Amino acid sequence: MHYPVWDLPFAHGLLIAVIAVIHVFIAHIAVGGGLYLIVTETLARQRQDPVLLAIVQSHSRAFLLLSLVFGAMTGVGIWFTIGLINPTGTSALIHTFVWAWTIEWCFFFMEIVAALVYVYGWDRLSARQHQTVGWIYFIAAWFSLVVINGIISFQLTPGPWLSTRNVFDGFFNPTYWSSMFIRSFWAIGLAGLFGLWTATGREAGSRRIWLQRYSAVWSLVGIAAASLAVLWWWRKIPETARELTRGDMPIATVVTQWTPIAVAVLAVIVILGPLLFPRRSGRPVTLLVLGLGLFCFGLGEWVREGVRKPWIVQDYLYVNGLRADEIDRFREGGILANARWTRSVAATDSLALGRELFRVACQNCHARSGYNGLASRVSGWEPQYTTALIKRIEYLRRPMPPWVGTADEARALALYLHQLPGVPSEVALPADGRAAYERRCSPCHSLGGFRDLGEYIEGMESEEIYEFMEYMESDYMPPFTGSDRERQLLADWLGQNVARTKEVGR
Ligand code: HEC
Ligand code: HEC
Repeated sequence: MHYPVWDLPFAHGLLIAVIAVIHVFIAHIAVGGGLYLIVTETLARQRQDPVLLAIVQSHSRAFLLLSLVFGAMTGVGIWFTIGLINPTGTSALIHTFVWAWTIEWCFFFMEIVAALVYVYGWDRLSARQHQTVGWIYFIAAWFSLVVINGIISFQLTPGPWLSTRNVFDGFFNPTYWSSMFIRSFWAIGLAGLFGLWTATGREAGSRRIWLQRYSAVWSLVGIAAASLAVLWWWRKIPETARELTRGDMPIATVVTQWTPIAVAVLAVIVILGPLLFPRRSGRPVTLLVLGLGLFCFGLGEWVREGVRKPWIVQDYLYVNGLRADEIDRFREGGILANARWTRSVAATDSLALGRELFRVACQNCHARSGYNGLASRVSGWEPQYTTALIKRIEYLRRPMPPWVGTADEARALALYLHQLPGVPSEVALPADGRAAYERRCSPCHSLGGFRDLGEYIEGMESEEIYEFMEYMESDYMPPFTGSDRERQLLADWLGQNVARTKEVGR
């Protein structure tokens, strides 16, 4: 809320997600691939197998191109985008871990130099020197993972750091070790998948069968060990984060259920393809497993990012740049008086006020329209209802930072949202009771899941529910702002279809 934010016409998270997924994929291949190269080189030299050695050499060139060029470009790209899109979060992470970042950059520099020497040193260095450089490359690459992992896992589980503010408490946080194992083993798995690329290419020649089996073993070991580490990690993350994947966040729920299945499918294809039937397996299978590997990894990272919402650093800093310890001050004076960087607008120009409020309070997660856009969400609500929901936004089913503005600010924001292109100015009576429920209750309640409405209105008749809506307004529930007919429609439907019969004697 304190720095100017880059004004994109689409949801900000999308841009970070696209760049980050590519970067994270390549960064892990760079680590696991480093180990794959040096271990395979050592093996080839021990067996005195010049053919295999030549294959490793050719693999190392493709590897360098991928990991250094794309890795470095997307890495810089991430800094660039997060700095523009979430300056407060970026600044908090830099300030908390200044030395960790410095160490990481040193390792990254070492990694680049070692990789270049490794690739151009095949014919220029002695076998011993060349292998030493290979190990230096791998260790430097792995250490940059070790360092960054401390910072990324800190975001979800800052643990004791929240009270001690000791950088080591934050770094070696409750999910540090499990995340490190996930990342290290997945890196090995990806290196195996990438190894299959060379194994099924022309350069593999007579070693094609052996190399496929060898790479398949790498992937399977990596995938299996990383999956075990995921189970460990899952037990260490906050209960609130796990809850989000049980229906509260619909997409995260589906993704969490499907990720293990996708990983299992990946493992089965690797077993049935390159491991057991390498003769029949070729580039199409390699492309398929590489794609699936990327997909699974992307899903996993997506869940990790998703369950952290609405925080950048759990219990400390919200995605929209609000710090947990600022809430009281904001509530007293309002958002625009406290956010340090807002365009100055006349207090009477409520549309301009609303636009500023959207920028500082909502834009980190929402666009105006399109993917994650608010225009489609407020369509079908009256401004009065939108205002009431904004004031209680932390009670909506989705994870959102609390509303810290004044009542006037909530109204100005609602007004702004309702004049966005495509938002109808009049709302029609819902088609049926279910549609009325979707409009009035489902933003915060569900049927059978999170905050199950059936349970709350257990044993109530339609008339009682109708009465209830007259007085339902509270800190967490909005007043009923629809017409009388809508209220009747909703009460009838709820009484007949949703309210459970009271279980006697419970
Ligand atoms: C931390 C990120 C985040 C911030 C900040 C945020 N939201 Fe959301 N919001 C979400 C997510 C995630 C959803 C659910 C999206 C989905 O279901 O596809 C959501 C959903 C909504 C919905 C739809 C609720 C429903 O049930 O239909 C509304 C309305 C909304 N947000 C308004 C706002 C407003 C207004 C602000 C600013 C004051 C805001 N949000 C700030 C993450 C955020
Ligand atoms: C802005 C979010 C929000 C909306 C919209 C909302 N509720 Fe609630 N409702 C809550 C919360 C939060 C609770 C309390 C949960 C708890 O503490 O267990 C609650 C509790 C209730 C309760 C229990 C009694 C009480 O007052 O705490 C009933 C009954 C209820 N809701 C009915 C409804 C009905 C019917 C609708 C739709 C017309 C609705 N709610 C819309 C958030 C909401």
